[in-house]
Amino acid sequence: MPAKKFARIVLRETLSWFVALTLAVQFAPVLQIHAQNSGKPSSGNHENWRRAAVRAPHGMVATDEQLGSQAGVEIMKRGGNAIDSAVAVAFALAVVEPAAGNIGGGGFMLVRLANGKAAFLDYREVAPGKAARDMYLGADGKVDPEASLIGYRSVAVPGTVAGLDLALKTYGTMKLSQVMAPAIQLAEQGFVVDQRLAKELERERATLEPFAVSRRIFLNDGKLLHAGDTLRQPELAATLKRVASRGAAEFYRGKTARMLVDDMAHSGGIISLSDLAHYTPKIREVLRAKYTAGGPGSDGSTWEVLTSPPPSSGGIAIIEALNMLKDVPLQGWDDVDSVHMVAETMRRVFADRAAYLGDADFVSVPVAGLTDSCYAKEVAATIDPLHASSSKVVHAGHPHTCAASRASATPAPMVVSLGEGPHTTHFSVVDGAGNAVASTYTLNNSYGSHATSSAGFLLNDEMDDFTSQPGAPNLFGLIQSEANAIAPGHRPLSSMVPTILLRDGKLSFVTGSPGGPQIISATMLSIINWMRLGMDAQAAINAPRFHHQWLPDQLVLEEGFSDEMERALQSRGFTTTRRGHIGVVNAIGIDPKSGERLGAADPRHDGVAIGY
Ligand code: DON
Repeated sequence: MPAKKFARIVLRETLSWFVALTLAVQFAPVLQIHAQNSGKPSSGNHENWRRAAVRAPHGMVATDEQLGSQAGVEIMKRGGNAIDSAVAVAFALAVVEPAAGNIGGGGFMLVRLANGKAAFLDYREVAPGKAARDMYLGADGKVDPEASLIGYRSVAVPGTVAGLDLALKTYGTMKLSQVMAPAIQLAEQGFVVDQRLAKELERERATLEPFAVSRRIFLNDGKLLHAGDTLRQPELAATLKRVASRGAAEFYRGKTARMLVDDMAHSGGIISLSDLAHYTPKIREVLRAKYTAGGPGSDGSTWEVLTSPPPSSGGIAIIEALNMLKDVPLQGWDDVDSVHMVAETMRRVFADRAAYLGDADFVSVPVAGLTDSCYAKEVAATIDPLHASSSKVVHAGHPHTCAASRASATPAPMVVSLGEGPHTTHFSVVDGAGNAVASTYTLNNSYGSHATSSAGFLLNDEMDDFTSQPGAPNLFGLIQSEANAIAPGHRPLSSMVPTILLRDGKLSFVTGSPGGPQIISATMLSIINWMRLGMDAQAAINAPRFHHQWLPDQLVLEEGFSDEMERALQSRGFTTTRRGHIGVVNAIGIDPKSGERLGAADPRHDGVAIGY
């Protein structure tokens, strides 16, 4: 039996109480579930990629995992709104997508309510009180490349539980215990491991092995988990239950906090009880920009982009890029001129990202200048539409608003880190009333620090998103600056960029992605595909992606691009390289005519959209 089918059967059983509850609600009999599920993993083969989005009239959830999407839909069917649903999804993914779903990490949630209000919830991790600027340098003064990535010293103070609790209290309608019920059930009774998870855990074996709790839970005591096995996580279930009944305070000041700090004390970590007790999620102003898009998909609509402010670098980068591309006639990704212009835009935006961005609570970030249309025009004018630039000569610009002169701009500090690893997860939710949530959260790279707390959850390695050493090239060949230096209480710079588009003032598209710096490109391309090129929701996700991050000076193309296109780009001077996948965008569009929700999960990860 295919693993996914088996998983569906077990899902039916493990969520049986849930289904019973669902059936009990008045409207359930008339609702039909619309799900996107090919029945077998399709991510490797484009031929099998689904072509059409899932259409549904009421609510829609798009995540990496069937069990995650299912949990979110069930909460809405019980009367919860999109925020209740998103919190349920996040807790469920913390159980069923251990590489990225988490309670030991952090993230962002962009909320837009049907009444037009919008807010950005920042529950990014912070550096512990004992963190220090040079903590990842060895005795020889050189960066120890593993220290900020593996083990207890790489862990920043987790923010997820505080953030989800804040989201629920501020915008939700249900109790924590209600929205956590699916996650608790999945952790306690277990879920069936599919082929992808089994392979992933095998791949991570060497790095998980040294950590006793990780080895016991995720490597099945060394015997490994195989497709069809059931993964039960009793310690995680117990932790989730304590949080469900006592609230986020349990995680930050209760037994869970004490367990985590004991783990730290025994294993060389530096997080203290005081760090946990002082962790504060923040509600921030949403970054906004307006466009009247030209191009093949344009019908004269006015668009508003609602996106992520610092400590995300992504919102600023996307607005700067869209500003630069405002008057560029984009045709699509089989048109070399369009790819050229967007790649050159990415190069410049990433040079600015590298230089200027950090935690705006502590360092000054020129947000107004970077997102200003006059500045964008000035930067766009440096692009040669026929020849690739060289990143050796493209540097960060001098961001300024139309009102201020270029000379008044603060000069760029040195370059910052883009040290991000391979896995994070983004999900989107829209409910029947039109409330919407875009959320990206992470442990940083897959399985974070690879260390699992005795309380049963994997711990992040988000400290690696800070600058370990100014001026030294990091894992990605980038040099780094003080703007993102390690300091107690600071949030490391992120690329995560949950984003929502409005069309003529109405909800239109909910998007975001994992992928380290590629998050920005993947999210931006999904926006261009929907807003500028008029693609339908699934086509906007399936379309081939590309990425340029200034340094290294290479244009990364997904396999979906033809050799002919690659040669055309090379003849213009681009150094190209291929990569299987860039980002994993789980998005939801709204059909402007019917109002239907169009769930478009990313086939690159065999994501699942479910609506009703
Ligand atoms: O916050 C960030 O930008 C990174 N920690 C995200 C890492 C990531 O996306 C890795 N995944 N695919």
